[in-house]
Amino acid sequence: MRISVIGCGYLGAVHAASMASLGHDVVGIDVDPGKVARLAAGTAPFYEPGLPELLAEVGRTGRLTFSTDMAAAAGATVHFLCVGTPQKHGEFRADLSYVESAFEALRPHLAPGDVVAGKSTVPVGTAEDLAARLAGSGASLVWNPEFLREGFAVQDTLHPDRLVYGLPTDDEGVPTPEGDAARALLDEVYAAPLSEGTPLVVTDYATSQLVKVAANSFLATKISFINAMAELCEATGADVTSLADAIGYDARIGRRFLNAGLGFGGGCLPKDIRAFMARAGELGVDQALSFLREVDAINMRRRVRMVDLAREVSAGSIVGKRVAVLGAAFKPNSDDIRDSPALSVAAQMQLQGAHVTVTDPQAVENARAKWPDLKYAATALEAAQDADVVVLATEWDEYRDMVPEDLGEVVAHRAIVDGRNVLDPKVWRAAGWTYRALGRP
Ligand code: UDX
Repeated sequence: MRISVIGCGYLGAVHAASMASLGHDVVGIDVDPGKVARLAAGTAPFYEPGLPELLAEVGRTGRLTFSTDMAAAAGATVHFLCVGTPQKHGEFRADLSYVESAFEALRPHLAPGDVVAGKSTVPVGTAEDLAARLAGSGASLVWNPEFLREGFAVQDTLHPDRLVYGLPTDDEGVPTPEGDAARALLDEVYAAPLSEGTPLVVTDYATSQLVKVAANSFLATKISFINAMAELCEATGADVTSLADAIGYDARIGRRFLNAGLGFGGGCLPKDIRAFMARAGELGVDQALSFLREVDAINMRRRVRMVDLAREVSAGSIVGKRVAVLGAAFKPNSDDIRDSPALSVAAQMQLQGAHVTVTDPQAVENARAKWPDLKYAATALEAAQDADVVVLATEWDEYRDMVPEDLGEVVAHRAIVDGRNVLDPKVWRAAGWTYRALGRP
């Protein structure tokens, strides 16, 4: 199958390479010439485990090309829309300008029988609007949301835990003949994962768009739930990690996504719950999602609490204190700093008068571009040199595995705040550290 992938960010670049590895002929298209040049040279423009290897593998087959010219999409049968939908400046709503411009640029290059497959996370109603604009062209639209996690993007794309097709349907909700034809094409695209038994949900446009934001809202709610419990634990001397273990054994609840700490960030969860609330408001059902306001508020409170804990272990003030922040990425195994809780805490402490040095195995360059006023170091030991407080903000393995004695050698004071509840308090305290964490005694 000839495929075009429009938008080569975290989603599109991985999707393009994965589709080529499944045997398709793929062209990735992006407006950023720098990104296209790097991808064309077989280099990943961001850190994503497994992507460099995948680019090298498919590079040898000649099945993957990149271009800045939308005309390169002509001749492909399925066109995946993978552009970003960030939060609109000063509003909760999603900014659909990239979807708009990509779709309009693609339109003149579509042929009858082509399928545009939307992957971007969009407010419900967007697919219906785009489909209406294809009427009479012979091309059709499907919504095919993407659930990949950064850090596991390659695996999640090649072996997804489910596939969702939102097809054009008639008044009874039955796929139209055009919808059936589009489905057949998608089945061909995803023949490999489907043959592995990947569950497939075939539905209408509205449901398919809601699935994505509903899933992310659920995940955000799960994290904020356990972080709310962490607040209760802090007030009572209980331990949120044991609490999470204990409730997580209930299969109906499950232990995954119950890690209390600094909360969620990244390019998806925060903006998706806000855009979902905004869309619900437009639809007149804002009450249905008012709980997401609380989910957001709990999440943001964790960042404030983290700064408070750093202050507590610094004898009541961080003014003039040296603070080492371990982690800048919004989560481990990523260099993505969008809405990173780690950087948000680092910047807050700096603004409040601390001298902050940040380190991260992959995200320092991205962090420096966004927050040039912070100091950066290559390693945890370097960042912690003469530190009054060490703050663990992103749970990279190398920070989880730190030896308290080694770090203790370089700091000025043995005080650590574990923002991700990944260190063993007993071990750190035994080595003479003051250990504090979110939701732990
Ligand atoms: C998320 C969804 O998981 C994915 O399905 C969707 O396609 C895009 O959004 P991603 O943004 O890559 O993926 O990150 P995810 O692994 O979900 O983590 C989100 C944030 O939640 C991170 O900041 C992480 O540190 C935090 N988190 C996660 C917790 O605080 N506690 C947890 O238990 C799990």
